[in-house]
Amino acid sequence: MIDYDMLCKQVQEILNADPWYIPAMSNISALLMDTLPDLNWAGFYLHCGPYLVVGPFQGKPACIHIPIGKGVCGKAAAEDQIINVPDVHQFPGHIACDSASNSEIVIPLHAYGKPFAVMDIDSPVFHRFTEADEAGLKKIADVMDDLIHWE
Ligand code: SME
Repeated sequence: MIDYDMLCKQVQEILNADPWYIPAMSNISALLMDTLPDLNWAGFYLHCGPYLVVGPFQGKPACIHIPIGKGVCGKAAAEDQIINVPDVHQFPGHIACDSASNSEIVIPLHAYGKPFAVMDIDSPVFHRFTEADEAGLKKIADVMDDLIHWE
C-alpha cells in the first residue's frame, strides 16, 4: 500500500525547495518513478498553444507533441478531467510511446487556477491504477497546483 500522505509531503518539500516547474517536475517525476511500483513512464506534458509538449519525465524517450484532444493526455487536457485507462489498447486514439505500456493515468495540473500541464503515468500492468492511486495522485496534483510556479 502506497503512503500517499508521505508522498504528498515529499512533493511539498520539493516545491518548497524551488517552486519553478522545471526542477520541481524533474524531481517529482523521479520521486514517482522511484516510489510507485510497476511503472514504465512517469512525467509531465505542458500546454503549448494547440499542443501539449513533453516536459520533465522518467522513462523511455516519448512523443514530443500531442495535439490537445488527442490521445489520453490530450483528452484529459481538453476536458480538464482525470482519465484512468485500465487497458490502453481499448482506448480509441491512445498514443503508444512505449509498447510496454498497458495501462495509464493522466491528471490535469493547474497554475494560478488555469490548466497548464498534465501528469502522465504509464504501467506495463493492466488495471494498474486503483481508486486509491487515483485519489492519492489527485492529492499530489492539488499540492502541485497550490505551490508550482509556471513561466
Ligand atoms: N500514451 C499517451 C502519450 C504519452 S506517453 O504515454 C508518454 C497518450 O495517449 O496521450
